[in-house]
Order: sequence, then C-alpha cells, then structure tokens
Amino acid sequence: MLPVIVENVPLAPLTTLGLGGAARFFAEIAFAAEMTPALTWAKDKKLPVFTLGGGSNVVVADEGFAGLVLRLRTRGRRWCDDSGETRVEVEAGEAWDDVVAEAVAREAAGIECLSGIPGSTGAAPVQNIGAYGQEIASAIRRVRVLDRQCLDTHELDAGACGFGYRDSIFKREPERFAILSVTLALAKNGPPLVRYAELDAALAGRPGLANVREAVLALRRKKSMVLDEADPNRRSAGSFFTNPVVTAAAAGGLPEDMPRFPLPDGRVKLAAGWLIEHAGLAKGFRMGPVGISSRHALALVHHGGGTTKDLLRLALHVHQTVLDRFGVSLIPEPVFLGMVWPD
Ligand code: EPU
Repeated sequence: MLPVIVENVPLAPLTTLGLGGAARFFAEIAFAAEMTPALTWAKDKKLPVFTLGGGSNVVVADEGFAGLVLRLRTRGRRWCDDSGETRVEVEAGEAWDDVVAEAVAREAAGIECLSGIPGSTGAAPVQNIGAYGQEIASAIRRVRVLDRQCLDTHELDAGACGFGYRDSIFKREPERFAILSVTLALAKNGPPLVRYAELDAALAGRPGLANVREAVLALRRKKSMVLDEADPNRRSAGSFFTNPVVTAAAAGGLPEDMPRFPLPDGRVKLAAGWLIEHAGLAKGFRMGPVGISSRHALALVHHGGGTTKDLLRLALHVHQTVLDRFGVSLIPEPVFLGMVWPD
C-alpha cells in the first residue's frame, strides 16, 4: 500500500542538528511493505529518494531536498537463543539504543560498547557505528535490503556490506539499497569488550555487560555524545569528521605527543579531535550561531537560529585550519542531503 505522501515537510525538526530546508515530498513508512509502492511512485516521477532514520548523522541543505524522503518508523525485534548465540532481527525504524539496552538485559554480548549512540537501527550499518573498539560490523549476521532499482528484497551478509571504518556499501552507494532490517548475532552470556583504557578506568574493576553499558553512557554524557535536552551541546551530528588514517611515513612527520593508533595494515589512525584543538581551535569556539562543542572538539554544534550554510562555513574553517597546521585533510563523517561536501 502506498503510504501517505505529503509535500514540503521541514526536515530540520527531524534532525539532531535542527538545520536545513524541506523535503519536496515526504512519507512515514510504518510497514516494510510500504517501501516498494513508495519507491515505485518516486521512480515514475523520476525523483531521488532518501531514507531517513533518527536524523542524528545527516546534514540537510538549506535549500532542502527536491525528492522524496522516506522516514522509517518500522518496528519489531525478534529474539532467538540458539546454542550459545543470541540472534535478533531488528526492523530498521527501531531506535538503536533500545536494541543495545535489551541485548544487555538479556546478557547478550557484542554491542554493549555501542550504548548511547543516537539514531535508528537501519542507519547503524550505513556508517558502521563504532565506539570503544567495537563496531556494529562484527555483530552483523545479515542485513535485509530492498534493491532500489529492481525493487526486490535481498539478504546481505556482513562481507557483502563492504564494511570499513565508518564506511559501508550503503554509504558508498547511497542510491542502491534501502535497509529494511538488521540481524545481529551476539554471544549469550559472553564477556563484554573492554579494549580501551578510558573504558577500563571508568569501570574500575566492575564486571559485566550492564556495568559496561553504564560506563559507556557516563563517558558519552561527559562528551555530550548522548542526546540530552538539557545539554547546550545537544544539537550536533556526533563526530563531524572521521579520524584520519594516514601512512606511517606521514604520521612520522607529525608531533610526537599526538595520539596515534597503529592499524593492522601498517597505516596509522590519528585523533581528529586532537588535531582540531592543537591547530588552535579550542572547545567552545564560536562562529555566530554555530561552534565547536565545549565538551569534544570533533562535534560541531548548532546553538540555534543558524543555517546549514553557517555550519558548512565553520566546518570548512576547521578543515582548512587543520590542513594548514598539520597537512591532514579531514573527511566529514555525516551524510549530506541535497548538497555535497566541497572537496
Ligand atoms: N581528543 C582531543 N580533544 C578532543 C577530543 C579528543 O585531544 O576534543 C583526543 C584525545 O587525545 C583522545 C583521542 O582524541 O584520547 C580520542 O578521543 P575520543 O576517545 O573521545 O574518541 P574520538 O576518536 O574522538 C571516536 C568516535 C566516536 C566514539 C568514540 C569512543 C569517530 C569519528 N568517532 O571518537 O564516535 O564515540 O571514538 O570510542 O570515530 C561518532 O562517530 O559520531 C562518534 C561519536
């Protein structure tokens, strides 16, 4: 059945940044079966389509989007315990953190470090959400997708999703698939992953998945990385840039006190937040209605009354300042709608 399609719907209230214009056409998808009729409708009209989840990782152009935005509200979590493994198939519209909370309550390990990440489950594989050394890619058994060209349903295993650091086939080829559901395979009564020293210190020896979840939430709250209405840094898209990955030779030329994380392929991941601060842009830096979070230099914040143009001006300023100081070109992390990042 074709969902109700409405015209000129402001997208800013549907994003955590609270910025950007309207969708020319917009529909809420309550049931996966509404996707095919909606995509067919857009195809007939030769309109581009964008699927929106929680809006926590998207930057919408001030001009809006001259196509159809489908906001996924599908619900359902189907759990199954099977010889030491807990599997769950989650519909795309479910809030991601509700899934983590239930997994932890069921003593199923594998996503506990991904606590407190805003957004929907269907959006989680797009950027391969990650925190404290854990990524959703390692818990994914399969992703059910609708091929937007052929309008048929497929199941992709983790290999077919082409996951990388904050990257996937869904991010690289946004026109190709719509994510319908995500199936996770978790370890029943498995141990939590405590790989980061910061998390280990926060746990102070307390064992178990529930304590890890609590510690991660507390750490994220301190960095304004949990949605909280009372937090002045709340209007952001999380990390605005990815942590840059450079060759060992390039990293060798950078300051010795810079945090660096060697990767298995010999390259080195740098801390973008550190680069921003040490390029001279302090936490709390303001450019009119937008600025750098006062809690974490990697998050750009909209303080109200601003435009996407203001945010982009700030982002380009941050990019240029880091490039001038360290010769490193930061790459934005959110998805852009109705515009492209000027390379
Ligand atoms: N740092 C600074 N100043 C800052 C922030 C960070 O100097 O303002 C330095 C510190 O030295 C710190 C290092 O950067 O040791 C790493 O910082 P942090 O542990 O806060 O993590 P991050 O690399 O900035 C990444 C993810 C986050 C995730 C955290 C926790 C990316 C782009 N971001 O941030 O994910 O929550 O690790 O593991 O990979 C997101 O993607 O939106 C996101 C919030």
